[in-house]
Amino acid sequence: MKFGHFDDKEYEYVITNYNTPLPWINYYGQDGFFSLMSNTCGGYMFFKDAKLRRITRFRYNNVPRDYGGRYYYINDNGTIWNPGFLPLKTKLDSYKCRHGLGYSIFESEKNNLKCELLCFVPLNDLCEINQLTLTNNSKETKKVTLHGVVEWCLWNAVDDQTNFQRNWNIGEVEVDDSTIYHKTEYRERRDHYAFYHTNIKHDGFDSDLDTFLGLYNSWCDPSAVLNKTSYNSVASGWAPIASHMFNLEIKPGESKTVIFQTGYVENKEDEKWEKLHVINKEKAYELQKKYATKEQVLKAFNNLKTKWVSLLSTLKVKSDNEKFDRMVNIWNQYQCMVTFNMSRSASYYESGTGRGMGFRDSCQDLLGFLHLIPEKSRERIKDIASIQFEDGSTYHQYQPLTKRGNADIGGGFNDDPLWLIAATSQYIKETGDYSILNDPTPFNNKEGSEKPLIDHLRASLNYIITHKGPHGLPLIGRADWNDCLNLNCFSKTPGESFQTASNFESGKAESVFIAGMFVLYGKEFATILNHIGNKDEANKILAEVKSIEDATVKYGWDGEWFVRAYDAFSNKVGSHECEDGQIFVEPQGFCTMARIGEDLGFGKKALDSVEKILTNDYGVEILHPCYKEYHIELGEVSSYPMGYKENGSVFCHNNPWIVIANTVIGNNERAFDVYRRNCPAYLEDVSEIHKTEPYIYSQTIAGRDAKNYGEAKNSWLTGTASWTMYAASQAILGIKPDYDGLMIDPHLPKEIKHAQVTRIFRGIKYNISITNNASGKYQMTIDNKPIDGKIIPYNKDITEVNVIITL
Ligand code: BGC
Ligand code: NOJ
Repeated sequence: MKFGHFDDKEYEYVITNYNTPLPWINYYGQDGFFSLMSNTCGGYMFFKDAKLRRITRFRYNNVPRDYGGRYYYINDNGTIWNPGFLPLKTKLDSYKCRHGLGYSIFESEKNNLKCELLCFVPLNDLCEINQLTLTNNSKETKKVTLHGVVEWCLWNAVDDQTNFQRNWNIGEVEVDDSTIYHKTEYRERRDHYAFYHTNIKHDGFDSDLDTFLGLYNSWCDPSAVLNKTSYNSVASGWAPIASHMFNLEIKPGESKTVIFQTGYVENKEDEKWEKLHVINKEKAYELQKKYATKEQVLKAFNNLKTKWVSLLSTLKVKSDNEKFDRMVNIWNQYQCMVTFNMSRSASYYESGTGRGMGFRDSCQDLLGFLHLIPEKSRERIKDIASIQFEDGSTYHQYQPLTKRGNADIGGGFNDDPLWLIAATSQYIKETGDYSILNDPTPFNNKEGSEKPLIDHLRASLNYIITHKGPHGLPLIGRADWNDCLNLNCFSKTPGESFQTASNFESGKAESVFIAGMFVLYGKEFATILNHIGNKDEANKILAEVKSIEDATVKYGWDGEWFVRAYDAFSNKVGSHECEDGQIFVEPQGFCTMARIGEDLGFGKKALDSVEKILTNDYGVEILHPCYKEYHIELGEVSSYPMGYKENGSVFCHNNPWIVIANTVIGNNERAFDVYRRNCPAYLEDVSEIHKTEPYIYSQTIAGRDAKNYGEAKNSWLTGTASWTMYAASQAILGIKPDYDGLMIDPHLPKEIKHAQVTRIFRGIKYNISITNNASGKYQMTIDNKPIDGKIIPYNKDITEVNVIITL
C-alpha cells in the first residue's frame, strides 16, 4: 500500500495520506540552523548541535508518537484544524505534504478554506521560514483565527529533559509587537537567543505554555485556540513558548499570508545588551527584514531549489530503470547530504542527545557526498583525524559544537582508524589533490601535536599491525564495525552499556572483518605511497598486508564462507561449528572486496553462501541463525530478540558491500538483485509493511525470525546511504574516480540496457553513454576514438568529454 507518490520532476515525495505508518520526516538547513519536519508538522530545530544548542522542544517517546512541532491552529467558525493534521486530528478534506530537498509544502483544505504552508531554512541564514497562506474558496466571507506556536527548549536538550528543579525557574522571554525573544540564560553565560517573529502585526500573543494551553489541557485543546483569543502571557520560569494570534477576515476568492520566522542570533560579549535587561536585537531585526515579504521568501526558496539542482548535477543518470534513476539522482544523494549534517545525532530514532559525530560513521558517510562537497569534506576529514591519538587509536565520537573527542564513550573500537584511510583515499581520487596529506592535523586536538595528515594514516595502519591476536589477525577491541560484537565485555549488569562497560582486553578476541579492511585499505595506502614516490614504505605496508591476508586465508576461512571473529577464548564466531550465528555478512563483503583468497575461489563461494543462507525478501540478513539466547561472551549482539538489529535483521548498511563484492567477482545480476531488495523506491508499494519513508534508507529491516518481518526502523541516519550511493554509482554504474582519472567499469544487470550518465569530475563534464548488450566484451570510445583500458586519464585542458561504452 502506498501513502503518496514520487514527483521526480519536482524532486519531491508527495504524501497524500497523513496516516503514514510512522512519521515520515524531512530535514532543512545547511549552515548551522537545522530542522526536522514530519508529515504532521512535528519535529524540532537546533543550531549546529542537537544536544547542546536545541532551539525548540520535542517531547520524545511521546504518546501519540509525533508531538512537538510548529503548530498552526485554524479556527474557522468553530471548526478547528491544523494543516498537518496533528495535533487536533480534525479530518481534512484534502491533504498533501510535499517533502522536497530542504523544504516541505503542506497543502490542505477544510470547508473550502485552503491552507498552503511552505517551510524551509534559507541558504546562509540562521532561521526557519514558515509561510502560511489561507485562501477562501467558499462563497462567503470567512472570519478565521489563526494561532501559530512553537515551544522553546532550554538549550541543553539533556538538561532540559531532566533538571526541572532548576529549569522551571530560569525561563525568560522578551516580547515586542511582532516578536517573542527566548533569552533563557542569556544574562549569565550564553551569548545566544532565539526569536519567533511574524511579518504582520498580530492580534495577541502568548509566551507561557500553561497559560496558552490551560494547565490541564493538551496541544489538542489549547485554551487560547478554543476561546479564539490570546492571553498576552509573558513567561517567567516554567515552559516558555511563542505563540502569535491573528484575526483574519478573508473574502471569497481572497488569500491572506503570514510569514512566521524562528531565528537564532549570537552576539559578542560586549554587544549583548541594548540596555539593562534588554537584549541587543540588531541582528534579529536584520534577519526579520530579509523575510518580510512574499517576494523575499519566494526568492530565498528559489535560491535553495537552484542550489540543489546545481549540486545534484554533479552526477545524473537516465536509464531504462525509473526507480534506480530516482534513487541515484535525487534521494540517495540527498540522504547522504543529511548524514553529512547530522551524522547519527538527530532523527526520529536518534534523540540528538546521545551521539555526536562518529569516527567510523562520518568517515564512511564521506564516501557518499565527497563528489558533491569536496571542500567541506576536506575539513571534515581533518576534524575527524583530530580526535585520533598518536598511537593510531581514536575516540569513537566527537561533539560537533566543540569538535573534541567524547570522553564518555572513549575509544577502543579497533576498526575506527582504518576508516580514515577509506575517506582520505576517496578524497584524493575525487579531487586529485594530494596536498591534503600534508595538512597539519593535531592528535587528540592538542595544540602543538600537529603532524601532516599522512602521519595519521600511518598511525592508523600501525595500530592494527601492533594489535594482533593469537592467529595473527587484528584484535577487535570493544567492537569493530558491528558495535554489538563485544567480545571483551562479559556484561551481567542490567542497563550497562555493552560498548563502554569494561576495559578488559583479552588480547585474544580477533576480527576477520578488520582483517578484510586492513587488506583493502592497506593496499589503498600503498597505492597512494607509490603515487607520491614512497616505494619502500609502500612495499613494507604490502608485506604487512600479505601477513594479514595469509592469516585470514589460514584462520579466517570456514570452508564455505569467511569466519567472523575469534572470541576471548579463541573460539570461532561465525562458523559452521557454532550453534547459532554460523555465518555473518560483514567479512563476506569486505574480504571479497579485498580479494582475499581470490585464487582459491573464496569470494565466489562466500557470496553463494550469502545468497543461500542470508538473503530474504528485503536483502541480506546480518547473520544466521539468529542467537536464541544471551551469550555473555558475545555481548550486545545476542541481547536483541531474534531478527532485530545486529541479531539477524537486514542491517542495510552492509548490503551494498555485498552488491560491490558481487561486482568484484563479476556477478552483475546478483549485485543488482541485492541492490533492489531494500531500495526504498522498490518498497514503496509495501509501505504498510516496511513503514519508514519510501524515499530514504533505514538502518534495519526486521529479518525472517522477527515477529514483524519486513518492518524497517531507524530511517535516515545510517551508513546505508553513503555505501549504497557508492555501490550504485561506482560498482553498478561503474563511474569510479581514480588517482589518475575517471574509470568507467559498469556492472549493469541485463534489465538495464542503456544508461546515459553525466558526471562532473575535477571540473570536467563527462557525458557517458552506456549500452549494455551483456556481451561480456568491453569497449570504450572517447569522442569517437576507441580507447584501451577503462580509465579516462585526467586532462586539465579539456572541459567536456563524450564517452561511449558498449558492454
Ligand atoms: C546498537 C548499534 C549501535 C550502538 C551505538 C547499539 O545498541 O544496536 O546499532 O551502533 O548501539 O552505540
Ligand atoms: C550503527 C552505528 O552507527 C555504526 O557505527 C555501526 O557500525 C552499526 N550500528 C553496526 O553496529
